[in-house]
Amino acid sequence: TTAPVAIVGAGPAGLMLAHRLGRVGIECVNIDIRTREEIETTHRAGIIEAVAAQDLVDTGVSDRILRDGHEHPGVDLRFGGQSHRIDFQEHVGASVWLYPQTDVFIDLADARARDGGTVHFGVTDTEVGDVITEQPYMRFTAADGARHEVRAQFLVGADGSRSVCRDLVPEGERTQYFREYPFAWFGFMTQAPQSAPELVYTHSPHGFALLSQRTDTVQRMYFQCDPEESVDAWSDERIWEKMQQIVAGPDGFTCQEGPVLEKTVLRFRSFVQQPMRYGTLLLAGDAAHTVPPTGARGLNLALHDVKVLAGVLQRAVGSEGESALADYEPGALERVWRAQNFSYWMTQMLHAAPGASDFDLRRQMGELDNVVATRAGRTYLAEQYTGWPSDER
Ligand code: DHB
Repeated sequence: TTAPVAIVGAGPAGLMLAHRLGRVGIECVNIDIRTREEIETTHRAGIIEAVAAQDLVDTGVSDRILRDGHEHPGVDLRFGGQSHRIDFQEHVGASVWLYPQTDVFIDLADARARDGGTVHFGVTDTEVGDVITEQPYMRFTAADGARHEVRAQFLVGADGSRSVCRDLVPEGERTQYFREYPFAWFGFMTQAPQSAPELVYTHSPHGFALLSQRTDTVQRMYFQCDPEESVDAWSDERIWEKMQQIVAGPDGFTCQEGPVLEKTVLRFRSFVQQPMRYGTLLLAGDAAHTVPPTGARGLNLALHDVKVLAGVLQRAVGSEGESALADYEPGALERVWRAQNFSYWMTQMLHAAPGASDFDLRRQMGELDNVVATRAGRTYLAEQYTGWPSDER
């Protein structure tokens, strides 16, 4: 078959791109090696910036985020055993939405099904190529065993941090920028009441912890661990001991405890591959760049990429042809590096590096103090965390 746009990946980036293109009459085919159920049940971050939330509603994906999501007008930075609230509304007149990425995915997958989009989940033996021609291809075996070939005008790699599409750019034509971190996150769900009304990002000599939420009775939490840590080594009792140790302080704050439901070690790094476009191939979302999770930029950045890309592809499929593709990277990359910086900055400011000295820890507290105690610092964090206004330079 043929399609104007073939999209490798049916996570939020790939599906939102297909949705945006579908609205202007451009039909795409998405494939994903994961089943719909696998994607739906893989926990990811839960913070959506206001513009991205509004886009889900305004482009007709769904308004469920307004009903099932929760508006968060601020965030808590905790260090030295004390909480410091940063009020986003006061400083930048914006909020974020707590709405799990899995729900964003469900809304997008439902919208594609409702609108008659073609999405193949659970494919195998994917092959992609011919991206320096005007007819790139995507071949795959669908879940029912049938082999398919899609010839397209444009091939989009929205296939996540283990992208195969990014390898279509020859080594001599690409640069990969990355940074590893000497720690990881131990993530878990717990059946417990909320410990605080908003998210709590905690710095302590015992490491970082983040208290996030899912519902009134289920909470999402993370604490800093060794990248080689095994989840089996952590009983509920040991997890809570660690969490309470990290958040403890003179204000008496504690985590509300409950049974621990799911445990995973999340390794992370910072990564960017440039260029984001090569011939008729375009990379979007994690395929082009990944960020450490601190600050929840990953999904928001991916959604920004595909907003730019949808406009560019609309022009390219229309009268302008391939020359329109030149506008993709300039439109997307600035935010990529801003988000790289913010995610890196939050990560280094809040985690205790292995072997950190007392000087290092106190310097971090000085940095945190500069953020929470000055209007400029609070405004800076609020602006970065809620997403940047797209028209500002
Ligand atoms: C969540 C994850 C993050 O990485 C973050 O910065 C905020 C929230 C979450 O899972 O809810």
